[in-house]
This record gives sequence, structure tokens and C-alpha cells, in this order.
Amino acid sequence: MNRKAKIKEKIVCFCYNVSETTVIEAIKGGCKSLMDIRRETYASTGCAGCSEEVKKLLRKHATEDSSEDGETEESKVSNG
Ligand code: FES
Repeated sequence: MNRKAKIKEKIVCFCYNVSETTVIEAIKGGCKSLMDIRRETYASTGCAGCSEEVKKLLRKHATEDSSEDGETEESKVSNG
């Protein structure tokens, strides 16, 4: 039998076939905003219908060292 036991990945972005795993990996790789995710994975660069799902993943997985809660801001400026 040639049937592979492939783990089903949840697709977040159907325009570019980007999986949830890919987005999470990008977040763990340093992406902190929707723009970062777009640049890294192309998710949310088509119809942008998946942007809420991507933001949800950002909130869930990018909260390790961020002191902010709530929605991510793309115009964050740091003094330093
Ligand atoms: S579903 Fe992600 S850009 Fe369209």
C-alpha cells in the first residue's frame, strides 16, 4: 500500500496554501507582526481573508517576551 500517513496540516492561507505550522514557525523565527508574516510566508498577501487567523496565531504564539496584550500594532516604535 502506498498510502502515506501524512499529518494533515491546517491551512491558514488558501491563496498561497500556507499552513498554520508555517505561520507558527515564522513567529517563532522572529516575526512579530502581520507584515512580518506577510514578508516571510506570503500568507495574507492575496485576498487577506486569512489576516484575522494570522493575527490570532500571532497573539497566541508571539506573547513570550512581549509586554503588550491585545492587538498587535504594526507602527510600534522603540526608543533606544
Ligand atoms: S486566504 Fe490568505 S491571502 Fe487569501
